[in-house]
Amino acid sequence: MRHLLDTRSLSRDEAILILDTAEEMAATQQREIKKLPTLRGKTVVNLFFEDSTRTRISFEAAAKRLSADVINFSAKGSSVSKGESLKDTAQTLQAIGADGVVIRHPASGAPAKLAASNWIDAGVLNAGDGTHEHPTQALLDAFTMRRRLFGASQSGEASRGRDLDGVSVVIVGDIAHSRVARSNLWLLNALGAHVSFVAPETLLPYGARTWPVTVHHSFDTALREEQPDVVMMLRIQSERMHAAFFPNEREYARVWGLDDTRLSGLQDRAIVMHPGPMNRGLEISSGAADSHRSTVLEQVANGVSVRMAALYLLLSGERTEQA
Ligand code: CP
Repeated sequence: MRHLLDTRSLSRDEAILILDTAEEMAATQQREIKKLPTLRGKTVVNLFFEDSTRTRISFEAAAKRLSADVINFSAKGSSVSKGESLKDTAQTLQAIGADGVVIRHPASGAPAKLAASNWIDAGVLNAGDGTHEHPTQALLDAFTMRRRLFGASQSGEASRGRDLDGVSVVIVGDIAHSRVARSNLWLLNALGAHVSFVAPETLLPYGARTWPVTVHHSFDTALREEQPDVVMMLRIQSERMHAAFFPNEREYARVWGLDDTRLSGLQDRAIVMHPGPMNRGLEISSGAADSHRSTVLEQVANGVSVRMAALYLLLSGERTEQA
């Protein structure tokens, strides 16, 4: 694997390789081996043109736990704000000797552009591009589902080698602006899960009906008909919305929110996921976010193991030809 740009092009076997490698990484952390020497001498640059808490911090922690040198680059306060192009920024990183570039960018396709260019030789990891994809988020979500649904032992033994065949996943809310929903859709399909989107028509992406997904316009109908193992709530991304499309908050919470009543009707083994950051009281109640079903903080912790796996597979020399 040369780059990690999306989940749409990942096969089932490639996805399981990343998830199983993440289990190995998690096992080293549980044995309190704080640092592996695997990426000693390599340089990873975190290139963030959009805000981030979880993704940036966990990529940094992941690279450091593999003994890489880490350079954090935020567009704010850099020469990007003076008009420097992606090409010139990339060539600067090449001159510094970056082996891996973790990039978040508001433009869909920016990581693919970087990977396809001859500006830089580094492996490129997409940390979220526009409304396109957020592959490591989907991988950490699948990792969390495997562990929770198939009996997480501390060693993760019960999860290894498994796909998500037959698992029902309902993804709810602002799907139109969600790269998390798209990455989950492709990955979950590759792993054999059944995916449903629940959203008002105005928050569904153009073309969604041609995708391998069941679409519902009623949350309660979706819960009744799909009997989900996983309910994944999405953040309303008001920063990407025209004001005219911004929903009335009370109405949105009533119709599309995971409140305590809907939470109590879920089947026993069902889990509640959210990629964060959460709008408590809007798409998810505090009761749901803090319940025993919630995996929100596990997702963050698992993100470090999954990103360690991705960095290891891309940068340690064990590469295949696939882009
Ligand atoms: N889930 C996620 O991408 O969170 P951040 O925006 O905080 O990185």
